[in-house]
Amino acid sequence: MPAALSPIDKAKFVAAKRAVDYVESGMKVGLGTGSTAAWMVRCLGEMVREDGLKIVGVPTSTRTAELARQVGIKVVSLDEAKWLDLTIDGADEFDPELNLIKGGGGALLQEKIVATASDQMIVIADAAKEVAQLGAFPLPVEVVPFGWQTTKALVEETLASLDVLGQTTTLRMNGERPFLTDEGNYIVDAHLLRIGNARQLSLVLNQIPGVVENGLFIDICDIAVVGHGDGRVSVRDAASGLCEETTIEFVEHDNIFTDLGE
Ligand code: 5RP
Repeated sequence: MPAALSPIDKAKFVAAKRAVDYVESGMKVGLGTGSTAAWMVRCLGEMVREDGLKIVGVPTSTRTAELARQVGIKVVSLDEAKWLDLTIDGADEFDPELNLIKGGGGALLQEKIVATASDQMIVIADAAKEVAQLGAFPLPVEVVPFGWQTTKALVEETLASLDVLGQTTTLRMNGERPFLTDEGNYIVDAHLLRIGNARQLSLVLNQIPGVVENGLFIDICDIAVVGHGDGRVSVRDAASGLCEETTIEFVEHDNIFTDLGE
């Protein structure tokens, strides 16, 4: 048995556990990236192995693909699946309209493509990710390596005319080298502190040549499943505004709590 989970990990786990209730046999499911999404993949793996759940998963990163295969989920590419019933993914921030900042783990491009190709997107998060206004978490912007310094300068220049509080950007590093996404691109993190108009910012950033995509998910997420360290989980539906709270009995057992390397 691994060491007992921290309250934050319990919060992530219960959010993941509640979210997989939405998954039914026969579904094509987008599998997000990050520590919360990893719990969801483990929960789905358990349902496949023990309850006979039949799904195919479309992972949003190489590390999620590896974990999904490890836990027994059949993995296919988005091109094979074509369209998905549901995507479940984590987030770095979400606001009351369920707009998100994603990309803290560097997988925003595949995550956005997969979520957009789904009938429904569910975000799973611990309660600390909820904000009144997006922007405290640095906004990841994926840029092509060619001319990245010019692109970074253009991003900063563009930010100067937009409703944001900060305008500095930093190239994400992996040790001594630039962090590389699964698509071979770089990530520029924009330290905005407060984003006044997320929709406008997203559109304008994506018009800069050299910018591939940004981490703002606007009108993509349908449901937020928010976990707390004491086992409480709230489910919020963006369209209906409905909010329901349940408590998940937390029992650590070997199948999904053993260390699979994530
Ligand atoms: C990866 C992401 C993740 O979903 C986001 O960073 C949240 O990660 P975690 O669940 O580990 O807090 O967008 O690109």
